[in-house]
Amino acid sequence: MSARANRMRTIHGPDLRFTPLSQPQHHDRPTVLVVDFGAQYAQLIARRVRELKVYSEIVPHRITAAEIADRQPAAIILSGGPKSVHVEGAPSLDPGVFDLGVPVLGICYGAQLIGQQLGGVVGRGMQGEYGRARMTRTGPSLLLPDDAPAEHDVWMSHFDGVTEAPEGFTVTATTPGAPVAMLENDERRIYGVQFHPEVVHSPHGMAVMARFLHERAGIANEWEMSSVIDEQVAEIRERVGTDRVICGLSGGVDSSVAAALVHQAIGHQLTCIYVDTGLMRKGESDEVVETFRRNLGIELIHVDAGDRFFAALEGVTEPEAKRKAIGEQFIRVFEENTGGLTDAKWLVQGTLYPDLIESGGVDGTASVIKSHHNVGGLPDDMELELIEPLRELFKDEVRKLGTELGLPDEMVWRQPFPGPGLGVRIIGEVTPERVALLQEADAIVREELRLAGLEREIWQSFAVLADIRSVGVMGDERTYGHPIIIRAVTSDDAMTADWARIPYDTLEVMSQRIINEVPGINRVAYDITSKPPGTIEWE
Ligand code: XMP
Repeated sequence: MSARANRMRTIHGPDLRFTPLSQPQHHDRPTVLVVDFGAQYAQLIARRVRELKVYSEIVPHRITAAEIADRQPAAIILSGGPKSVHVEGAPSLDPGVFDLGVPVLGICYGAQLIGQQLGGVVGRGMQGEYGRARMTRTGPSLLLPDDAPAEHDVWMSHFDGVTEAPEGFTVTATTPGAPVAMLENDERRIYGVQFHPEVVHSPHGMAVMARFLHERAGIANEWEMSSVIDEQVAEIRERVGTDRVICGLSGGVDSSVAAALVHQAIGHQLTCIYVDTGLMRKGESDEVVETFRRNLGIELIHVDAGDRFFAALEGVTEPEAKRKAIGEQFIRVFEENTGGLTDAKWLVQGTLYPDLIESGGVDGTASVIKSHHNVGGLPDDMELELIEPLRELFKDEVRKLGTELGLPDEMVWRQPFPGPGLGVRIIGEVTPERVALLQEADAIVREELRLAGLEREIWQSFAVLADIRSVGVMGDERTYGHPIIIRAVTSDDAMTADWARIPYDTLEVMSQRIINEVPGINRVAYDITSKPPGTIEWE
């Protein structure tokens, strides 16, 4: 975790006492277990399975055959992984898993484990293949779709590879660097592919996964978002009974969708609290109030606390001091406004599936309170149990769910926004006037990106107001104004990011509009720093 994330935790994490999280509920829907052998492969596979309308969960590779049997999966997929099967300590699979009679598909490293653990040979020091490779069918295959040409491209990323399939297996495809690119033993219902069917660069990959799931494992494509809504609504009603539930709204996607879902289940028993710090983007607070209170009819305590935040920020220029001032103020405001809700028994959190995986909690053993400050500052004597209705979902699924629940696109597709808001995008002192300036410039940046059709490709885009002045000339007048820095990045998870290659024309319109429409700004710069070495935010 970054130093900054750590600091966020300490700022926003007072002594909250939560009762231990309940175990994940078991539903009797067919589930595919994706066994995680490292890196990010398992998440992508799990998402692809869900795209094929089959529910999937990720489990650690240390899981035993007995534990798997206990969960009665409809199929098992062994993910890729970064290690070589020959390295000491390389992860392996409890061999009993292969005898459960549950259909197994091994992908990349997973296929090599099938080769190695069932008596075949995995080559050492092979040449390896990275990227596109030409695969040739060598016999009838139960996994390759009939319309896949005898020779076609697949995406590879491997060093070792199976060189001899175990007894009872047939080899159905090969590539120059992988003599056994596909293998199968239909009697035992065990299949393996050396390539990555889950990535878009394997054009027939999804069809291979579909064949495994629907035909070899016989799982119907029935899982969908509406069933998530029905299941969660029923479950929440049962758990909560007639208790009161509270939810801290941040205006972000996760807490918004979680609140809408809980509201669908229990209506007025839910009260949401939205603290307007005065540091939100232009129009954001109105939108939250409009959507939740008016459109969805959710009981919403809207705390308009901008003045208090600005008072706390007066004269503060150092970035961490700002964060601290904002965090402390937030806690106080939240505390004061939840004071009347002492009968609340439950707290809604927008925890997502990746949050749980990253914290090692997929097996139900651990859950962390999100460091986001929307949970900070609940009174100490409140003992709250968590409701996490999104804990089985990935971000893109949460967006779909939000749309099904009737949330507007602007809310569902909202970019991540830092808890301290525009406070960390103003270099130097944060005043109401400077926030107003930045809000205007920021709105222009985001509007122009939307008009250019780039909004959904970009992770975050915003304006930064720098505390420096430069000379310029406007009309016949010399100016001495402030610059706006445009920041736009692409990223998957905010851990690393690259500056977005926005077309010059779009940048030009942004620059002209900002200078013409935002008083006091006489220069616009575009930040072309990736992360690392930069961070996404400026403070
Ligand atoms: P950096 O600037 O560290 O940001 O590259 C990574 C991601 O975290 C967000 N961020 C924050 N979120 N409180 C938050 O809730 C904070 O203090 C904070 N600082 C950064 C940032 O917007 C980006 O998505």
